[in-house]
Amino acid sequence: MSSAVTSKIIETRVYDGQKPGTSGLRKAVRVFMQEHYTENFVQAILQALGDQLPGSTLVVKRLIIGQSGILSTPAVSTIIRKYKTQGGIVLTASHNPGGPDADFGIKFNCENGGPAPDHVTNKIYEITKVLKSYKIAPDITVDVDKIQSTTMQVDGNPFTVDVVDSVSDYLEHMKNIFDFSSIKTLLQGSNNHPPFKVLINAMNGVTGPYIKQIFIKELGIDNSSIVNAEPLEDFGGLHPDPNLTYAKGLVNAMKDGPYDFGAAFDGDGDRNMILGKKAFFVTPSDSLAVLAANLNLIPYFKKTGVKGYARSMPTGAAVDRVAAKNGIKLYEVPTGWKYFGNLMDAGHLSLCGEESFGTGSNHIREKDGIWACLAWLSVIASLRKSVEEILLNHWQIYGRNFFVRYDYENCDSEMANKMMQHIESELQKPELVGSKLTSESKTYIVKLADNYCYTDPVDGSQASKQGLRILFQDGSRIIYRLSGTGSSGATIRVYVDSYEDDPASLTKDAQEILKPLVTIALEISKLREFTGRDAPTVIT
Ligand code: G6P
Ligand code: ZN
Repeated sequence: MSSAVTSKIIETRVYDGQKPGTSGLRKAVRVFMQEHYTENFVQAILQALGDQLPGSTLVVKRLIIGQSGILSTPAVSTIIRKYKTQGGIVLTASHNPGGPDADFGIKFNCENGGPAPDHVTNKIYEITKVLKSYKIAPDITVDVDKIQSTTMQVDGNPFTVDVVDSVSDYLEHMKNIFDFSSIKTLLQGSNNHPPFKVLINAMNGVTGPYIKQIFIKELGIDNSSIVNAEPLEDFGGLHPDPNLTYAKGLVNAMKDGPYDFGAAFDGDGDRNMILGKKAFFVTPSDSLAVLAANLNLIPYFKKTGVKGYARSMPTGAAVDRVAAKNGIKLYEVPTGWKYFGNLMDAGHLSLCGEESFGTGSNHIREKDGIWACLAWLSVIASLRKSVEEILLNHWQIYGRNFFVRYDYENCDSEMANKMMQHIESELQKPELVGSKLTSESKTYIVKLADNYCYTDPVDGSQASKQGLRILFQDGSRIIYRLSGTGSSGATIRVYVDSYEDDPASLTKDAQEILKPLVTIALEISKLREFTGRDAPTVIT
């Protein structure tokens, strides 16, 4: 490799539609492979960082890359914060299938380590619409498989590429947050307790090296307790989204196996699913509430105190009950982790989560799958109860918010938009508020219906049209949204949330309890008529 290289200006043409969605720019790999497509978007990110003046030069002095190109999204957030970088770019299919015929994405995280907020992604998008050229130094060659620091001259300026261990900074952070020795005792067993058997599934995503280091080397579990731990470019054909449909492998192994606890993570390591013995499912909304109620068992929160809790708007309101009981403030934000960042930076928020299998805290500015798993194990190590017992106790204290989400993937975009317009017009009818909606023996009285609009309490910025909501007098809710992370067609999401505190209902099946509300949701939306779909693609 030459130690002095020069950059080149490459003429390009504008590509339409490079608008980041809920989480970065997501498209099919084939779209990203078009000439200049990826370079354009990266150039727009860099320009949005401040290189706005025509003819000016953005000088990048140092680049940190994970060994073999591997860093999980939470590790990127950790590294941005630890080394105080100006931001970071994550190239990932996230929770979507990967490989040449599947999906890809580019996310930009800001200097706080969190996903770029709307005003930054809007700026990036505006730049993509007028971009005429990008700058590239094609002759830089660094072996990214080798941990090393290389300094060279680029256009006469020193430029350093650091290839760093993918896991070590993240591991160090986790060790400062959790008591590894108590988790180790739980997992390995002690005089009074048999080993607590766990099964961890990385879904062939990026978390493989992390779970090997943390669970095998540090916490001493057996190799056989870790599956799909080799990161594969196409995730071995898996759809690396940890839910009951796409993480069937984990669900089945838990159903049939001796395991007390199971966890799966998505392709870039920020999502998690938690299961108890015999595949007892913890909804992400309940997971958030249980952690909220038990934060004092985790050393990090003992030290920092608990400032506030937050959830995204469609997330089940279980955590609201914990907030009310503990006298801790609860924030509701639109879907998208980026909306939590400001609250955390301003010191208002300690713990937050989303129904989309995201759980995290102010230890970084991303949701964090492995963190959630370690948080659960910490709680279990202290309480010495099974996952199911912990949930039952929680519901007995707080009551239970039953929650279900129906996804209709890959619908015709035009019809999906028409359906949303239809619902919005139904919601605007003045007679709706106060009206009674009945299905089977259940009747719900409408309290409020709107298109959710959020005002950030820190900087006053607004995000409108964040989901159509019908709120009922008993606290039940129906929410409709179009996904912002799909890459083909439209994905319609219908979320239903209802509260019960009758002890006889607590252990009932969510599908059964929520059936009347789901029926009402489908009737109002005319979903069948608009989409031709009889059943959702995925239920979570
Ligand atoms: C990503 C984001 C989350 C968001 C989720 C679902 O994982 O980081 O914050 O909740 O996507 O978004 P969607 O728009 O597909 O419902
Ligand atoms: Zn992810």
